[in-house]
Amino acid sequence: MPVDTPTFCPATLGWPLPEGRPGGPTQEDQRGLLAALATTRLDWGTLGPHLAFDPSGYVRRRLFLNNSWEILLLCWLPGHHTALHDHGASWGSTLVVLGDLVETTYRWQGQGIPLEKTGDNQLGERQITVETHDTIHVVSNRSAAPAVSLHLYSPPLKYLHAYDLESGEQNYVEPSESRFYTR
Ligand SMILES: [Fe+2]
Repeated sequence: MPVDTPTFCPATLGWPLPEGRPGGPTQEDQRGLLAALATTRLDWGTLGPHLAFDPSGYVRRRLFLNNSWEILLLCWLPGHHTALHDHGASWGSTLVVLGDLVETTYRWQGQGIPLEKTGDNQLGERQITVETHDTIHVVSNRSAAPAVSLHLYSPPLKYLHAYDLESGEQNYVEPSESRFYTR
């Protein structure tokens, strides 16, 4: 029995969610979804009621959840950033729908070893980034204006790991319990 949140219909984004699969989307599903995501209809009449900003940190709103897919809307003020994290067993994709974000990626090298920075991706409006099982990153709003991003995960994010940059320490986190990841 799906546990859909009734307040948001994914169809308003202008494309259908791929069929849910136990292990997450296939590569073909991923390609199709990323192509569809680029055509997303940004209807602020629909998204607007879900926007929320909080000076103390970015706001994470869950728009939709079923057994296979989770859709989040993240609202960022200047200076807001995530913790350094991975995405557990979930595949994800992120579409910037307003403003500019920066994704800084890292490679984990083991406990006791600092993580290695591997890149800085500037993400403007309508740009997309993908979160694979290997992705470890910090997402931040370094601009002087608010930003909003849409995030899709499959399977839904049940857990992830947060990392300490210097020590390489890896901590299991359930997003619903995490102060820094969920609002
Ligand atoms: Fe992430």
